[in-house]
Amino acid sequence: MQFEMRGTMTATGAKPPGAEDEAGAAKAVQQMFDSIAPRYDLLNHVLSANVDRLWWSRTARRFKAVLADPDAAILDICCGTGDMTMALLKRRPLGARPILAADFSRGMLSRGALKFGAEAENTSDAACGKPYAVPLEADALHLPLRSQSLDLVVSAFGFRNLANYEAGLREFHRVLKPGGQLGILDFSEPGGLLGKAYAVYFRRVLPTIGRAICGKDGPYNYLPASVGNFPPPAEMLALMGATGYMRCAWQPYTFGIAGLYTAARAAVA
Ligand SMILES: C[S@@+](CC[C@H](N)C(=O)[O-])C[C@H]1O[C@@H](n2cnc3c(N)ncnc32)[C@H](O)[C@@H]1O
Repeated sequence: MQFEMRGTMTATGAKPPGAEDEAGAAKAVQQMFDSIAPRYDLLNHVLSANVDRLWWSRTARRFKAVLADPDAAILDICCGTGDMTMALLKRRPLGARPILAADFSRGMLSRGALKFGAEAENTSDAACGKPYAVPLEADALHLPLRSQSLDLVVSAFGFRNLANYEAGLREFHRVLKPGGQLGILDFSEPGGLLGKAYAVYFRRVLPTIGRAICGKDGPYNYLPASVGNFPPPAEMLALMGATGYMRCAWQPYTFGIAGLYTAARAAVA
């Protein structure tokens, strides 16, 4: 099942508790990820029962054609500790141009670089041209990248945290080449009975486990709140269309608990 563009847009951006404006929201998100970085991978895999691996791998498969092109310029934005980047790297050929993996949380990015950076490979692998990624500390809303320079921008579970969704889509559009592709993997709220059961897990069980593992209250209360605040698919697709993207679509994963938004910049600039 795939949803095409329709609906209206009212989206703004992430609203972490205590943040009064967009700058405050970005700061709060950055500090929160820095603080949970040491436990992030463990929490992720426990809370998602490892289904997240499936989602990263499905997302990478969706872009297999561009990933197979050794010269393609690819950005994984909001790469965090690098699991999406690793799934993308699995589909890169030997000797491929490195992927750019960017995040504004140094704590998250430095852990990611240990997995995907050139120095993570041993010398013989590097000499064989094993694909790797270059870490870049950067804000998704102000990318230090040339306009129209990328073939693919991917973001997994990061977009929902941006302080301004429309500004994020515009910035990704700016850096994409004409015809370049966008993939945004993020949570959503499934409907029906399953949705109700999932809401109990997401809003009650998950924050309790999160608190137990990371010893803090905030981040795992913020997670369900941030998904509730994120525009539903129809609204997100309308926003993507309004910011200039073509072929906007949403593919639900695992009954719509998560889903992949895809779109492209028009082939003619
Ligand atoms: C939930 S983690 C996802 C990490 C990884 N992509 C994954 O799938 O596990 C969200 C990441 O987005 C990053 N992030 C949020 N807002 C950002 C922004 N404005 N610029 C850069 N990174 C941002 C956070 O620092 C965090 O590392």
